[in-house]
Amino acid sequence: MDKLLYKLCYSFSQPNWENGLTPDKLITTASTCSDKPGTALDLGCGTGTQAVALAGRGWTVYGIDFVPKAIRIAHAKADQAGLNSNIHFLQGNISKLNNMGIPKLDFAYDLGCLHTLKSEDQRKVIIALAGLLPRDRIFLLFGLKFRNETGYKYGLSKEQVTGLIEPYFTLDSYEEDMLWDKPGAWYLLRRSAA
Ligand SMILES: C[S@@+](CC[C@H](N)C(=O)[O-])C[C@H]1O[C@@H](n2cnc3c(N)ncnc32)[C@H](O)[C@@H]1O
Repeated sequence: MDKLLYKLCYSFSQPNWENGLTPDKLITTASTCSDKPGTALDLGCGTGTQAVALAGRGWTVYGIDFVPKAIRIAHAKADQAGLNSNIHFLQGNISKLNNMGIPKLDFAYDLGCLHTLKSEDQRKVIIALAGLLPRDRIFLLFGLKFRNETGYKYGLSKEQVTGLIEPYFTLDSYEEDMLWDKPGAWYLLRRSAA
């Protein structure tokens, strides 16, 4: 979806992903992928629900979203939770990750953002992440299955993700699930040697 549509979603409605919930899969993956909480990146962080949940568990989180209103709300949530010093919310496009001053990471995740990007931009994200995540570190991705909503097509398939990540990540696990009442899948991607 393009930026304008997302801006409209945040301006005139309560988007369906804004339910304030953090999936167990995110919390369990974060707690098992690293000996101790480190630095995480939240791609398409929205209003910061997931970033605040991880920062509350000791992580330093960088959250990126291109909608200014979402970032403003995210800052307010971090403030209210007393977690401002652990969270860095940045307004920007995730396909330009290289120019954002993100440090080396221990973990990265994307809940519902990458699946809307054009394939060339998805590939840019994967290559940038490969430069930020050391070998064996995890990128947890939730992508909705292919959908066609009034002519607007988006989503990911397992075959597509497998091709997209090569040779930088390997698919450790694939688990079908629902998020925001829509079918999709969790992809546990591990940074490989390449
Ligand atoms: C479905 S929402 C999910 C929000 C959040 N991950 C969550 O779990 O609540 C997708 C988010 O990705 C953001 N987004 C989409 N494309 C983006 C892009 N290219 N760069 C930055 N943010 C983007 C949207 O503004 C929106 O906030």
